[in-house]
Amino acid sequence: MNIYDLFMSPLEKRFLTKIRKNIIPRALGNVLEIGYGTGVNFQYYNLATVKSVSALDTKSTPAVKIKAELPLKFFEGRAEDLPFLDESFDTVVETLVFCSVKNLDNAMNEVLRVLKPGGIFIFMDHVLPEKKSMASLFKATNTVWPKIAGGCNLTREPYKLIEASGLVIEQSGRSGHDIFRWGIGRKA
Ligand SMILES: C[S@@+](CC[C@H](N)C(=O)[O-])C[C@H]1O[C@@H](n2cnc3c(N)ncnc32)[C@H](O)[C@@H]1O
Repeated sequence: MNIYDLFMSPLEKRFLTKIRKNIIPRALGNVLEIGYGTGVNFQYYNLATVKSVSALDTKSTPAVKIKAELPLKFFEGRAEDLPFLDESFDTVVETLVFCSVKNLDNAMNEVLRVLKPGGIFIFMDHVLPEKKSMASLFKATNTVWPKIAGGCNLTREPYKLIEASGLVIEQSGRSGHDIFRWGIGRKA
């Protein structure tokens, strides 16, 4: 277990699983999941509503939590330069990836590009907390954190970029002392 997993493991049990169970079953049609990691979200897709899941990560890692019946296809690539045609997905999913993409603006533009009109973007990120004492702690930790946690940044606020992107935010929430923000945005 690396330092990131060690840090996230109690948070996963306490907060993240609940959020995943709430948002991932909302995916429908042809789905793109960006940064699938070990495939922790795969078990939460609703087989009745999902046609296919294209799972993309920077490197192909063996996914450990695959629902046997899930129509999965694996791709190597980066969020900032998605290897897919415009308007090819009904749903795009991103959980805990926008903290570590190198160029967040490009990644968000790519999400908007590959989403069909009317499609939804499902997201969940850890963010810079609003509370000043917590924010200071996160900022101080972030001076070393990206170097030891695979490029993960503790000071980002992706929900602000997502909210400003033109997507219509249909649902959103926060949890874990405001460390986690999630939401579902629809492309007009
Ligand atoms: C912290 S893990 C999150 C895994 C999973 N999505 C989850 O919710 O637990 C971050 C994942 O994002 C991937 N990643 C990092 N930068 C990326 C990028 N630019 N494009 C696509 N995936 C990226 C990493 O390889 C890693 O698998």
